[in-house]
Amino acid sequence: MNILILGSGGREHALAWAVAQNPKCDRLIVAPGNAGIAQVAECADLDVENGDAVASFAVENAVDFVIVGPEAPLAAGVADDLRRAGILVFGPSAAAAQLEASKTFTKQVCDAAGAPTAGWARFSDPTLAKAYVSEQGAPIVIKADGLAAGKGVVVAMTEAEALDAIDMMLGGGFGTAGAEVVIEEFMDGEEASFFILCDGEEALAVGTAQDHKRVGEGDTGPNTGGMGAYSPAPVMTDAIQTQVMDQIIRPSLREMVSRGTPFQGVLFAGLMIKDGQARLVEYNVRFGDPECQALMMRLGAQILDLLLAAAEGRLSEVQANWADDHALTVVMASNGYPGSYEKGTVIGGLDDIASNSGAYVFHAGTAKKDGQIVAIGGRVLAVTARADSLAEAHKQAYAMIDQINWPGGFYRSDIGWRAL
Ligand code: AMP
Ligand code: GLY
Repeated sequence: MNILILGSGGREHALAWAVAQNPKCDRLIVAPGNAGIAQVAECADLDVENGDAVASFAVENAVDFVIVGPEAPLAAGVADDLRRAGILVFGPSAAAAQLEASKTFTKQVCDAAGAPTAGWARFSDPTLAKAYVSEQGAPIVIKADGLAAGKGVVVAMTEAEALDAIDMMLGGGFGTAGAEVVIEEFMDGEEASFFILCDGEEALAVGTAQDHKRVGEGDTGPNTGGMGAYSPAPVMTDAIQTQVMDQIIRPSLREMVSRGTPFQGVLFAGLMIKDGQARLVEYNVRFGDPECQALMMRLGAQILDLLLAAAEGRLSEVQANWADDHALTVVMASNGYPGSYEKGTVIGGLDDIASNSGAYVFHAGTAKKDGQIVAIGGRVLAVTARADSLAEAHKQAYAMIDQINWPGGFYRSDIGWRAL
């Protein structure tokens, strides 16, 4: 079959790498892609948030199946446009993508579903919001309701920080995404990510992971999109996975059905675990990046069969086959990220790295220029290895990094510290 993947990050490179290994995949196109993706698929220049353009491209190229990587096209309704054009697609409708695009929406779904999550209230009036903060005290969490490129959450340790965040968000700091704020109870505990494929009704867990959000060693410095990840996450025991499926995921999916907006795609549940119980921090409606790189390294070619089953409403007929293995991915980023950084720095040594089904360098912000690979984004490479133990995967990933010659980039040397 002919398959189109939308996106250009390390997540989409990992999806393309795994999908291309499945014998069902005849032609693989990724739009817009990057220099690494071009080694495993055709890249096409396409505005992936323009549903009409994506649907026309898919029809013209006899695409049988579209996999949507990032949240922006989903929130823009690209999956709806593709379905209207009669094309099979993995990814939720714009209505169901509200689970990521609106914090208020998710809190309402959780309340209706009885899913454990932080207590909350919503405000568009700063005076009322501040009065609520004074009443509740700190620590407390202030969130812009809409999509704010991962920057819309302030975990305020003091009341003063909370009041500043309210002024910033309701004062237009995030544009319309911050026209309403959700104020949440602070949850203490250990965070983990849980990925669940959904076909509208059925749910199939496809892995756990832990991310490293902060830019610096020992989880210090500003937040980023994620500097590294590993899978599985030891904190996500079988008992906790069962609790999350029974108390959070399945009730949320039933609530989505009863609202007439069933969820089809991958639910990325951000969880806070304390005393053997998980509560929902947030939903995303896509795979995590870089969590996806670790997950695809473990799942390999079967991911295509699982995504197809989700898109065709037959998840109850399939299962994920797991080996007892571990994968770890280390992100290499341009010097200066997550602040401003130089573009066009040359990355050497990539050709000498031996790739195989258990070791691969996924690309994010890369391009090919005059025969060389250059960095054009903040997060640039995701160096990923799989092995029988996390310690061995860690060793292999860092051994690959040692072969990369990129003075313009940096990485965290402590990915996996919590589990190792
Ligand atoms: P989000 O952008 O919603 O993923 O939130 C970013 C980060 O803020 C999460 O990964 C958590 O570390 C933290 N966070 C969000 N909500 C809460 C909460 N209610 N309590 C504690 N930490 C939170
Ligand atoms: N790595 C976190 C995310 O993709 O949102």
